[in-house]
Amino acid sequence: MLSRDRKKNETELTRLISAEKLPGHVAIIMDGNGRWARKRGLPRIAGHRAGINTLKEVITCSYELGISIVTLYAFSTENWKRPRWEVEFLMSLPGEYLHKELQSLIEKNIIIKTMGNLEQLPEVTQRAINNALEATRDNSGMILNFALNYGGRNEILNAVRKIAARVKEGSLKTEEISEDLFAGYLDTGGLPDPDLLIRPSGELRISNFLLWQLAYTELWFTRILWPDFKKEHFLKAILDYQERERRFGGINKL
Ligand code: IPE
Ligand code: IPE
Ligand code: MG
Repeated sequence: MLSRDRKKNETELTRLISAEKLPGHVAIIMDGNGRWARKRGLPRIAGHRAGINTLKEVITCSYELGISIVTLYAFSTENWKRPRWEVEFLMSLPGEYLHKELQSLIEKNIIIKTMGNLEQLPEVTQRAINNALEATRDNSGMILNFALNYGGRNEILNAVRKIAARVKEGSLKTEEISEDLFAGYLDTGGLPDPDLLIRPSGELRISNFLLWQLAYTELWFTRILWPDFKKEHFLKAILDYQERERRFGGINKL
């Protein structure tokens, strides 16, 4: 599509979006970088790099729309199975990204958060992340939540371990373990559950992402690969979401 036509399409889609029915929390599985690169005869790394452009476009669009929370799956606990060179590259990306983008995120009043076990990341990456957490902690705008070395099962086990330790020491009774209490021990802490999950790349699975939190999330899949995913696709996902009827097990219309 020509860039002029794309802009026109984006403007029309934006006009159709209802500000009152925006998803408060959008979660995204950023998938398809490797296939995008392979299709072009490029190394997988080129796909990950191209994916950063999509990330920036989606963040800007979320910010402009006024979405409150965006959670992005950047590296799973299973992604360590990949070749060492790819893991090393993926581990260097957060630092590189933050080095270039932190100032612009600060100017947007964005709060950066993370999920997952950061202590297993290289020290320079941890430093870059901690610096970004610190620099945006007092902001009050959109929350940008990066899932890094994150796995839903691991997150649930960590919560169970912490709760079990409290029961053992006597500061919590088993009957006090409610859904709300449990959710408070997850990496999402006090954040509301995602309203919309977007997964590009054609895979129809969750891949260990937010297993507890996705209980009633609306799911949106597309075959588009993450580096090809543009503002228009994001807007389309939100428009589709706005047409869904969420029932949470109840009935809306008799
Ligand atoms: C997503 O793209 C990036 C990460 C999982 C870190 P992939 O690297 O999984 O791309 P495909 O699925 O091989 O195309
Ligand atoms: C999920 O994608 C993890 C991230 C996007 C960070 P994968 O590419 O790892 O998922 P599978 O292996 O296809 O399920
Ligand atoms: Mg993948």
